[in-house]
Amino acid sequence: MQFEKNILCIGAGYVGGPSMAMIAHKCPQYKVNVVDINRKRIEQWNSEILPIHEPALDAIVKSARGKNLFFSTDIANGIKEAEIIFVSVNTPIKKFGKGAGMAADLQYWEKTARQILENADSPKIIVEKSTLPVKTAQAMERILTSSDSSVHFDILSNPEFLAEGTAINDLEKPDRVLIGSRETETGLKAREHLVEIYANWVSREHILTSSIWSSELSKLVANAYLAQRVSSINSISALCEKTDADINEVVAAVGMDRRIGDKFLKASVGFGGSCFKKDILNLVYICRHYGLYEVADYWENVNKINEYQIGRFVHNILERMFNTLAGKKICIFGFAFKANTDDTRESPAIMVVKKLIEERVRLVITDPKALDNARADLKETTGSIEYLDDPYEAAQGCNAIALVTEWDLYRELDYERIFSSMVQPAFIFDGRNLLDHSKLFELGFNVVPIGKPAMTHFI
Ligand code: NAD
Ligand code: UGA
Repeated sequence: MQFEKNILCIGAGYVGGPSMAMIAHKCPQYKVNVVDINRKRIEQWNSEILPIHEPALDAIVKSARGKNLFFSTDIANGIKEAEIIFVSVNTPIKKFGKGAGMAADLQYWEKTARQILENADSPKIIVEKSTLPVKTAQAMERILTSSDSSVHFDILSNPEFLAEGTAINDLEKPDRVLIGSRETETGLKAREHLVEIYANWVSREHILTSSIWSSELSKLVANAYLAQRVSSINSISALCEKTDADINEVVAAVGMDRRIGDKFLKASVGFGGSCFKKDILNLVYICRHYGLYEVADYWENVNKINEYQIGRFVHNILERMFNTLAGKKICIFGFAFKANTDDTRESPAIMVVKKLIEERVRLVITDPKALDNARADLKETTGSIEYLDDPYEAAQGCNAIALVTEWDLYRELDYERIFSSMVQPAFIFDGRNLLDHSKLFELGFNVVPIGKPAMTHFI
């Protein structure tokens, strides 16, 4: 079959896989190739069990796979065939050298740029889908024009705003699709090509175009703003605990103001995920680079409050359980960084577990989807850690439950049964304010929520 466009995506991860599956699903007239260096991941994309857990993803992939959606490791050939190349490789924080712990590690990006240069023999539109520091497109252009090759490249920025757990809905009905380009004749033409792809299912009013630098920066700012809301409300949760105010009541009152809005105001054990912390660090690094120290400090505090909140959660556990945890058994309900994903990157659970291990706690971890990732994250952590699928078995014989991920299933459990299987006095630390606290208290639990008065049976 002759396809209207040949699209390639380099990087078959949490962004590349779902976003390309959506394009293929919505546009049967285009061929979409997704390539990766990770052979195992590609095999999984081609199998019954996909490499990531994301609600509704299976159906979208299966609707297009083998028809106009293909997963492979043949990167060179993919580059040759494609007119449009999305790059959605990972851009973690640099762990070495200048900017270590702050700046983006762009080695995967640069490798991709060089691979494109090496294999391209016809004009290409290169689309930055990964989240990148502002001005990365300039570096990309420099690499792509560094050889004698006469091939023309246009670079676009098209950051992805999907959230894990709701990726398919976010991709299907995005608040906006952002496309940044150079204001040159070919840049604008390339931008129109990409607009045309999204216009297959997204209305034109939701497709926003801008300069390439605004687009790169907007992605970092959007994540910084979202993370800042979580840190802001989490900082207030600490004050609520000191003043007997209730964070949910405060949120209801504040969030009803339409200028503020009620989204992203759920107090929690802290935010996690592969991007918030990293993108803020990136923003901070860029600000410092340009000498904007006050601006950098302002945003850096969003991450600091997050670490403080995770630390506070563990501190509350220690303090409530009579200032000694050594030898006690605590069950961690949920290890994913949020519900409905198996992703554990930067999950608050990692820090919670490591801090509890320092206190010599015996841990049992349960999660419906993320146990394999939890095992991998903690493989170098020495201490007593058990992994169990069944939450009833996991809580049995424990002194406390620490709920870290807001999986719906934890709301539905038989807590009477759980209470009777635990060591008394039994505690629940609800890091997501997910559970029915009054009911748990009536069953006999000592309940410690976030940003609300604790309910204990001690005089
Ligand atoms: P990921 O780690 O899940 O996937 C990246 C993939 O790129 C990996 O499978 C890796 O093997 C592959 N890769 C690396 N170098 C390669 C190369 N040279 N050639 C081919 N493949 C290569 O990462 P992700 O979560 O999909 O994130 C990708 C980018 O998207 C990041 O910049 C991230 O900040 C951004 N982002 C992520 C999310 C999210 O929810 N995860 C949302 C929006 C934006
Ligand atoms: C976030 C953004 O929401 C996406 O728009 C963005 O594309 C993505 O980062 C990215 O660039 O990677 P994601 O990290 O998948 O998406 O999930 P969120 O729903 O934003 O949650 C992030 C963290 O904040 C989670 O740990 C979540 O539990 C926590 N959170 C969120 C709260 O603690 N309270 C809230 O009110 C909201």
